[in-house]
Amino acid sequence: MAQQRRARGNASRRILVLHGPNLNLLGTREPEQYGSLTLAQVNAAIQRHAKARGVRVVCQQSNDEAKLVGAIQTAARRGFGAVVLNPGAFTHYSYALRDAISGVKLPVVEVHLSNVHAREEFRRHSVISPVARGVISGLGLQSYLLGVDAVLAVLSPPA
Ligand code: DQA
Repeated sequence: MAQQRRARGNASRRILVLHGPNLNLLGTREPEQYGSLTLAQVNAAIQRHAKARGVRVVCQQSNDEAKLVGAIQTAARRGFGAVVLNPGAFTHYSYALRDAISGVKLPVVEVHLSNVHAREEFRRHSVISPVARGVISGLGLQSYLLGVDAVLAVLSPPA
């Protein structure tokens, strides 16, 4: 019964997965940092993961800061309960993206394929993390899958 209730609850939830700049190049871009999966393969794995959990996910990528800001601003109106966001290089300097997140009520989980703390100095600082609900970094594809699990836990905390 509780399981049925959970399944029904999950079905009504939608998660927006947002990929920032240059993540359209996954597969060929610095595979030693970001792995060899293409963005389409990453999205397919996220979709499988979400389906197994009874939730709907929409994946979008943009190289354009304004489009990412717009996607965060309109996410709730579009019926999303949470966002999993890989802000790409915007992580390190986009106050516009940060303000968009702090301006909406939606939980946003920040994810990174690579371990940003084990790389260049400029990657160690995120302007997004202080307004993110949580941060997952360094686990490749698993960062996204754990990001989906994290927002599910946030949306439905254990009683
Ligand atoms: C990234 C890390 C960022 O520093 C970088 O600019 C990216 C990808 C990651 O997923 O590891 O574009 O967000």
